Amino acid sequence: MNNVTIPIKQFISLNDAECQQRIKAAKAALGERLVILCHHYQRDEVFQFADFTGDSLQLSRKAAQSGAEYIIFCGVHFMAEVADILSKPTQKAILPDLAAGCSMADMADLPKVEQAWSELSTILDADQTITPITYINSAANLKAFCGRHGGIVCTSTNAANVLDWAFNQREKVFFFPDQHLGRNTAYKMGIPLEQIVTWDFDKPYGGLSHEKIKAAKIILWDGFCEVHMQFSPDHIDQYRAKYPDAKIISHPESSFEVCQKSDEVGSTDHIIKTITASAKGSRWLVATEVNLVDRLARQAKAEGKIVDYMAPIACKCSTMYRIDPQHFLWTLENLMEGNVVNQITVPEDVAAEARLALERMFEVSV
Ligand code: 13P
Ligand code: SF4
Repeated sequence: MNNVTIPIKQFISLNDAECQQRIKAAKAALGERLVILCHHYQRDEVFQFADFTGDSLQLSRKAAQSGAEYIIFCGVHFMAEVADILSKPTQKAILPDLAAGCSMADMADLPKVEQAWSELSTILDADQTITPITYINSAANLKAFCGRHGGIVCTSTNAANVLDWAFNQREKVFFFPDQHLGRNTAYKMGIPLEQIVTWDFDKPYGGLSHEKIKAAKIILWDGFCEVHMQFSPDHIDQYRAKYPDAKIISHPESSFEVCQKSDEVGSTDHIIKTITASAKGSRWLVATEVNLVDRLARQAKAEGKIVDYMAPIACKCSTMYRIDPQHFLWTLENLMEGNVVNQITVPEDVAAEARLALERMFEVSV
């Protein structure tokens, strides 16, 4: 065993073909000690090595069920944190590049959320009247915040069930960090737009009057995903004018206006299942990350369907894109030498409270 970490600089200039050959060998050598989880947005050069692929909910379940010593998460930081929280203490969650964060998740942090909660508490008895919900795209300490305040985690797959649960606990919801998932889901459940307010996290009291806060059913953090902000209702209008029979499907991180004009709205898993189940000859315009759309388009073409990406310029999730074959190989070859690089560890006190909020989510998820 060599316990000196092999430096990343030995991998950076390797070409993809060499990396792929060595990744295959390393994966075979590590065998069942390793499980590789890949989110649907992951680039193909890495995605092809996945043991399991899925959306955020499916991958968190896989992480919880896996018995492997090493869980390599080819996704972003919050996903690897969830894997660490849900796995056994003897298992190690690894993120091949620590710079693979999520810009939306970074828009909410614990000090700002606690500040908002204490401001809300001057107007209402927050712990008695508000259920906090954090989208899984958030730091572990925000999941812990929800755990200790009777709140819950959601993903784009189970957001409606989670909101339902939350309103059964208390009359209002504080939802962070993605305003769009919150607004799209709440509106679909019948909450009018007047009772859906947005909390500007740079302003005292979120820039809202006391009356607005008291009248609101749901208070949305002002966060968003820059990838899903590329899509606009104009793209849909132009496409429909050209292809009147086309169907439009969007991820709920897209804007309210885009989702309102879409035939279907749902998680990455929902998008895949819907297009896969559609009839031969159908045509789809898709609003979600381009790696997934490209993969779907190739698969659909072979099945006699057409899938197009919604925006004129393809926009990758630039952070997820950082998990490249070079970093992936660096991680694996270090493991073969007995070196664990880029382990993601959530302190146990934070993990315990975050687990509470995640477990509540699993209970209400179908
Ligand atoms: P899904 O849970 O639908 O896979 O979404 C995760 C995500 O980050 C979308 O941007
Ligand atoms: Fe985060 Fe957006 Fe990337 Fe999803 S697509 S991981 S929300 S930055």
